[in-house]
Amino acid sequence: MSISDFSTEVESSFAAFSGLSRVDSDICSSAGPITSLPSLICALDAVFRAVDVEAVVAGGGGEGRSQDGFEETTRPRLAEILRRLNLDDEEIAILPYTHWSDRVPYTRNLIHTDGKHYSLLLLCWNAKTASKIHDHPVQGCFVLPIRGSIVETLYTRNGESSSSCGSCGVGSGSDNSSSSSSSSSSSESNGDIGNTLVETKAIRRSKGDLSFMSNASGLLHKISNDQEQGAISLHLYTPPFSRCQVWPNGVSSKESITADMVFYSAHGKHPLDDKEFDLEFYI
Ligand SMILES: [Fe+2]
Repeated sequence: MSISDFSTEVESSFAAFSGLSRVDSDICSSAGPITSLPSLICALDAVFRAVDVEAVVAGGGGEGRSQDGFEETTRPRLAEILRRLNLDDEEIAILPYTHWSDRVPYTRNLIHTDGKHYSLLLLCWNAKTASKIHDHPVQGCFVLPIRGSIVETLYTRNGESSSSCGSCGVGSGSDNSSSSSSSSSSSESNGDIGNTLVETKAIRRSKGDLSFMSNASGLLHKISNDQEQGAISLHLYTPPFSRCQVWPNGVSSKESITADMVFYSAHGKHPLDDKEFDLEFYI
């Protein structure tokens, strides 16, 4: 199932959230802790409704337009909302999006998408697993660990500088996170500028440590769970995207492949089908 299939399911999936209405303004307008996913979705929808309204006021064409001013307005609003999320472990354990599987290193579970502005995913990481190195061809990708801890490893393409690595972390915790490694393999040493990847930083992110990245930063990343216990992270992509570039052989890769974003479950429905996942392309 691709991301395009989800747009027609948006309303039905939303209705599944305990009867929550789009006009439940009490939840949307609260500035306190966000203690449920329906409340989170409501708050996210409010942000993007405002984006559309502001675009009309500015003469930008309204819905469907690109998010001009994303860095200045939309991104801080989204970060502020995500920082307010506080789900307790018991609720996380019984969410219909929380799936564990030995068939894949981690499950990617679509919680919700409006089909236009954003998609919200829950990823459950088995112990001692990692994603492949990949990019994010969107305006933004927020990652928020909600149980356990994960390690985000950042890369640049050889010969390129990350123009805004300082802005890739947006959470208060991210600024204080420990860098667990730093590689200095150089482009000059192999004469292969632009074709290989250089690890720049590995950052442990624990519950509540919000991070942000996009291709505009010049960075690629990999997420790992190096712990003996499973970990769970929430991912907000804006706008939704269906494909990304993956470096299946790690830093030694000279070429990337295009991989479809595969969901282990969508809108709480699992399994999507009985297909075997192609782990080379699983992202
Ligand atoms: Fe990612």
